[in-house]
Amino acid sequence: MSGADTRTLAGRTVVVIGGSSGIGFEVATQVAEAGAEVTIMGRDEARLATAADKLGARTRRVDAHDEAELDAAMSDVGSVDHIVSMVGDSTAGGFLQTTPETMRHVLNSKFLTNWAIGRYAARALANGGSVTFTSGTGGRPHEIAATYVANLGIGALVQGLAREMAPHHRVNAVAPTFMGGATSFWRDVPAEQLHEQEQQFAGAVPLGRIATPGEVARAYVLLMTNQFITGQVVAVDGGIMLAK
Ligand SMILES: NC(=O)c1ccc[n+]([C@@H]2O[C@H](COP(=O)([O-])OP(=O)(O)OC[C@H]3O[C@@H](n4cnc5c(N)ncnc54)[C@H](OP(=O)(O)O)[C@@H]3O)[C@@H](O)[C@H]2O)c1
Repeated sequence: MSGADTRTLAGRTVVVIGGSSGIGFEVATQVAEAGAEVTIMGRDEARLATAADKLGARTRRVDAHDEAELDAAMSDVGSVDHIVSMVGDSTAGGFLQTTPETMRHVLNSKFLTNWAIGRYAARALANGGSVTFTSGTGGRPHEIAATYVANLGIGALVQGLAREMAPHHRVNAVAPTFMGGATSFWRDVPAEQLHEQEQQFAGAVPLGRIATPGEVARAYVLLMTNQFITGQVVAVDGGIMLAK
């Protein structure tokens, strides 16, 4: 049981930017099952079409890193009840190992792009609507510098926008931790290496395993449906930071 009142999603419009795979696909599945009209967005047309077939969702191709494309996509969608953003590339490595290009790319992907999505949300959301971003947790600055800084940015964005967009709209984020092969996020890592990392990581998580996409997705549904939560970053991480 998710603890969320999913009845409030019936007949609502939900846009999941990054709904064609991983956590976003699970969010889209859960909100569609609750009776919402879903539009999924992503860059890859084939991935979008496959996901939309399963979900009965609308699709809109967009590379959210491109402000003009994002602007056009959000304008096409018009007024919407809930926006979920899964956008945010991540790269491992400390401050000395991270190149300026990587730092710029990750800050652009995870922070600046979501800031733009937040600005569109302020214009596009219907009264009572919400926007939920994706942050991340489980890494320390010396392990994952660029992503760590970008996630701090998401935390600040959530707090600032929550205040600026109240009382009509709510703004939150979900912070997952490393999910290994449970999503497509680490698709460039060889399967065997990913499996090894997954085992190692699960051993460090107090709850002893990695999350399922469904478990993480339920946090987004909770934040969409609980009308009195705003300005929060909810970690769904098996308690990993208790061990760090
Ligand atoms: N998986 C993990 O271990 C983990 C841990 C902590 C945080 N997170 C965060 O969780 C989020 C989603 O991860 P996931 O594991 O669900 O990954 P995923 O399976 O790769 O899904 C990402 C989704 O976002 C879309 N997307 C990515 N970049 C986009 C862009 N520029 N414009 C439009 N759509 C875009 C992808 O579609 P296209 O590729 O076709 O565009 C896909 O639908 C990310 O923000 C990530 O940083 C993941």
